[in-house]
Amino acid sequence: MSLKEQVDITRLPQHIAIIMDGNGRWARKHGKNRIFGHTNGVSSVRETSEGCAELGVKYLTLYAFSTENWNRPITEVSALMTLLLKTIKAELKTLLKNDIRLKVIGDIARLPVGVAKELNEAMARTANNKRMDLVLALNYSGKSEIVRAVKEIAVKVQKGEIAPDAITEEVVSNNLYTAGIPDPELLIRTSGEKRVSNFMLWQLAYAEYFFTDVFWPEFTREDLYKAIIDFQNRERRFGKTSEQLVTK
Ligand code: IPE
Ligand code: IPE
Ligand code: MG
Repeated sequence: MSLKEQVDITRLPQHIAIIMDGNGRWARKHGKNRIFGHTNGVSSVRETSEGCAELGVKYLTLYAFSTENWNRPITEVSALMTLLLKTIKAELKTLLKNDIRLKVIGDIARLPVGVAKELNEAMARTANNKRMDLVLALNYSGKSEIVRAVKEIAVKVQKGEIAPDAITEEVVSNNLYTAGIPDPELLIRTSGEKRVSNFMLWQLAYAEYFFTDVFWPEFTREDLYKAIIDFQNRERRFGKTSEQLVTK
């Protein structure tokens, strides 16, 4: 049986989040510069998006650029921004063809104007697509996202729109960038690193984590299927005992 056939499509995670890591090390392994790694990571984005949409996954979030990534050499940051711009332009047709809606989480306003404009346009053009949401985390930081939500809620309290006692987990969720998007059930990180690097700190509270040594540019649909199969073989207990789950 192929890996794809081993995926139980009746028990798919509805939201998968991926920390796409290892572009630089993959490039070095091939004797090339880091930018070459980023460029080659684009095909993995395409593979993974199509693979998810084909299976019936409803939300795919990709960590593409963290707020911390601004600290990289300026040449690498510029190359990443140029690549982003080129990729959005080039992939818009595919998004439309595949009925995929593009969303962004993170502080778009601080991206180069050209990039922000292209993103806003692609989001508007795909806004009515229904098959899957492709969520790009760009200039994203989980801590900043929570701070931003706290500020928004504080303003509402100050205006008397909400009482402090009425602040629930749902209220916090609704003030995050991901408002309206269910929390990811599965987080994948490539390249062998085992950390969350400030990614979706609130939303990953009960996700299953899958780590693979594969570098992002070499990540294929088969690797995606492996992660989903692994996820489907886990027992998600949410604090209960194993016995309780069986009798449920
Ligand atoms: C992930 O690959 C891409 C971004 C963070 C933009 P890296 O560029 O982090 O690659 P490594 O971790 O240095 O190998
Ligand atoms: C995390 O990767 C951010 C993205 C994948 C965009 P990094 O390579 O920046 O993470 P650290 O610095 O190794 O934790
Ligand atoms: Mg890295």
